[in-house]
Amino acid sequence: MEGISKGNKRYNIICLDDDRIFLKSLKMFLGNRIIRDEPYNYNFLFLDSPLKAIRIIDNLVEDKQEIALVMSDQVMPQMQGIDFFRQTKNKIPESVRILLTGQAGMGSALSAINENILDKYLTKPIKDLDDLVVTIRHLLNEYQLKRQLDAQHKFIAGLYEFGNFLNAQTNLAMILEQTLAFTCQALECSRVSIMLLENGNLTLKAARGIPKDILKHMVAAIDAGVATRVLKQQEAILVQDIDQVPWLTRKINQEYKSFISSPIIYAGLNALKKPLGIINATNKIDNKPFDEDDLKIVNFISSTASIAINNQQDRYRLEQNYLNTIDALSLALEARDPYSRGHSFRVMKYAEAIAKNMKLNNGERNLLKNAAILHDVGKIGIKDHILLKPDRLTPEEMLQIREHPKISEAIILPISFLKEAGRIVRHHHERFDGAGYPDQIKGEKIPLPARIMAVADTYDAMTSNRPYRQALSADAALRELENNAGTQLDPGCVESFLSHLRRG
Ligand SMILES: [Fe+2]
Repeated sequence: MEGISKGNKRYNIICLDDDRIFLKSLKMFLGNRIIRDEPYNYNFLFLDSPLKAIRIIDNLVEDKQEIALVMSDQVMPQMQGIDFFRQTKNKIPESVRILLTGQAGMGSALSAINENILDKYLTKPIKDLDDLVVTIRHLLNEYQLKRQLDAQHKFIAGLYEFGNFLNAQTNLAMILEQTLAFTCQALECSRVSIMLLENGNLTLKAARGIPKDILKHMVAAIDAGVATRVLKQQEAILVQDIDQVPWLTRKINQEYKSFISSPIIYAGLNALKKPLGIINATNKIDNKPFDEDDLKIVNFISSTASIAINNQQDRYRLEQNYLNTIDALSLALEARDPYSRGHSFRVMKYAEAIAKNMKLNNGERNLLKNAAILHDVGKIGIKDHILLKPDRLTPEEMLQIREHPKISEAIILPISFLKEAGRIVRHHHERFDGAGYPDQIKGEKIPLPARIMAVADTYDAMTSNRPYRQALSADAALRELENNAGTQLDPGCVESFLSHLRRG
């Protein structure tokens, strides 16, 4: 993403002429006048050879330096001015190009302008160097204006892209990280932090470029009063020099004098403004103070980020509520079916032991844990006379029971962070030989966490009393697991469970 670029950058101006006397007078006159009066940092290079000029342009481009303007004589022994421009145009397409030519060369200069190789030509001999200064200054102003417009355009495009990126995120940490990165780039500063309101307190949630010892005191790092002030007044604060602001009394961090603190406020459709937190920026890379433009940029960024943060927080709350509902469903299910009481918890424990033995990573183990707790929640959709039936089920009843992994998955699916767990839950009754349900997938096509859960689930079912049979002893259940390894169950998962139990 491109940010807006400001600051005290150096702009090179190349003057090329084989006439060294003319070059010398240009150096004395032009260089002094333009360097002295312009607000930008212009650096003149006076060169007498086009080949040398091409080399220098290559070096400057490689060095990522900007070349604002190139002025060249037309008639030179090594190369004509127009050919020089033709050769260098693609290397420096943004630079202003001026040709100095005698009356005789005007025709080719005009065609070069039409071909977009030149921006302007001036006729030699230059009678009044003041006129030349006016022309160059005018062209440089145009160049700077175009640069600013380009930068603004890039910034707006970047902001749009940034907004789109944020709105596609479901993870708060990603939203904050991207906001930090974009702010650092757009403001050309090295330190940015984001604090969010949590239960009425501002808590540091993300930071970039801030040493650990300062992070610990983050609330007071700028000034304890700043954050409160920004949030209360719902207005950003731009401080150019801390020493000049009387109400800033506590200064823990003396490394910088200028900062911006902008509130992150979500403006909902009902026109209610909801304060979410603040963004703080310090340490501009060029050591200059922040200015009004920077303030506008931060305000843009914080209002863009506010939408994504608010959406994410709303989604998080919704998901938490939904999760609570699922937990309540699981409890209701276990209350309804006394034989399954504690089943999910035990399956989770067994699955966790297998996963540990098989050296699954933390992410996979967490996934398995969530899936194990929720795997049978879909049984809530099975009627009592089937679920609690003391006798063997009829084939039709069995078909209904077999729906429960799909129902479990459908219940879990709306929670974004449980999507993957939903997939595992769907497959917890698949068999290793492909004769399971609901999708009859086999072997390694069944996700490993689902194969692990099948072992844990089977073992717990065998060692629990059911309405139609007594629980097996642990030894008998283990023998059954071994017997079913390779047909119903993944032999690797069975072996891991057995070795875990053997170790005690
Ligand atoms: Fe099940």
